[in-house]
Amino acid sequence: MNTVMTSENLTSGDIVINGSVGTPFCDDAKMSMRNVNVFYAENQAIHDVSLDLAKNQVTALIGPSGCGKSTFLRCINRMNDLIPQCKVTGSFVMDGAELYAKNMDPVLLRARVGMVFQKPNPFPKSIYENVAYGPKIHGLATSKSELDEIVETSLQKAGLFNEVKDRLDKPGTGLSGGQQQRLCIARTIAVSPEVILMDEPASALDPIATAVIEELISELKEKYTIAIVTHSMQQAARVSQKTAYFHLGKLVEMGDTKQIFTNPSHQLTENYISGRFG
Ligand SMILES: Nc1ncnc2c1ncn2[C@@H]1O[C@H](COP(=O)(O)OP(=O)(O)OP(=O)(O)O)[C@@H](O)[C@H]1O
Ligand SMILES: [Mg+2]
Repeated sequence: MNTVMTSENLTSGDIVINGSVGTPFCDDAKMSMRNVNVFYAENQAIHDVSLDLAKNQVTALIGPSGCGKSTFLRCINRMNDLIPQCKVTGSFVMDGAELYAKNMDPVLLRARVGMVFQKPNPFPKSIYENVAYGPKIHGLATSKSELDEIVETSLQKAGLFNEVKDRLDKPGTGLSGGQQQRLCIARTIAVSPEVILMDEPASALDPIATAVIEELISELKEKYTIAIVTHSMQQAARVSQKTAYFHLGKLVEMGDTKQIFTNPSHQLTENYISGRFG
């Protein structure tokens, strides 16, 4: 398989920047990742990836299974710290601050950079407590009524409040899959993050629940910077403004979503989006 980033693989005359084709950097970056390498023991999962996440935009990370999308996403809020034998090098800067600096508290960082997983994972607690937990441990509310308000507005922003307002004391695990995923989004929002990372957030949901989540993502970007991993090209095209195509741990191409899906510059991107990957 040819993965060498040379002009020979290009379908148009674009130049190769930092090993990748297209426009991985932007002027209004919320986060800037540079020369990121990730190893699991001696296996390298990410190779010299550099890209920006643009402020108040949705960036889709796409690519074949095993290409490193989840690995890269997890580095952005230091979830990989929790995996033994995982080593991360390179630079991750948010608003001028290095996320891997010694004085950066990973627990506080994960409140600023929230994560929503493929499988909804509500805590075994009530709907209310699921959302209230984060604000409580981070001391974001000074009174019960303030906490009530955070819970209500978070559930509202996640588009779930009306469905659960009469059963806030019931277990979060008793909700449907799509509702549980919105509960997890409400839980993420409750600690006022700046960035939300989503790893295939709708892949376990039916088309109606998926549409609700997609609509939500489009609304959330007004306030937050979002990165989403998805295997659905239609979903990437619907919800994102920028798309990054990964292949075997490398960033092959990044650019405006419309351009990536209609006029990709790299042969590997074209193969993938046209279903000719192999
Ligand atoms: N916890 C881990 N320990 C060891 N190796 C891992 C771990 N997680 C991922 N890897 C390896 O890193 C590489 C990238 O995996 P990753 O899960 O990031 O891919 P992905 O693009 O998210 O794939 P998928 O689309 O299937 O979710 C793979 O070779 C995988 O085997
Ligand atoms: Mg993954």
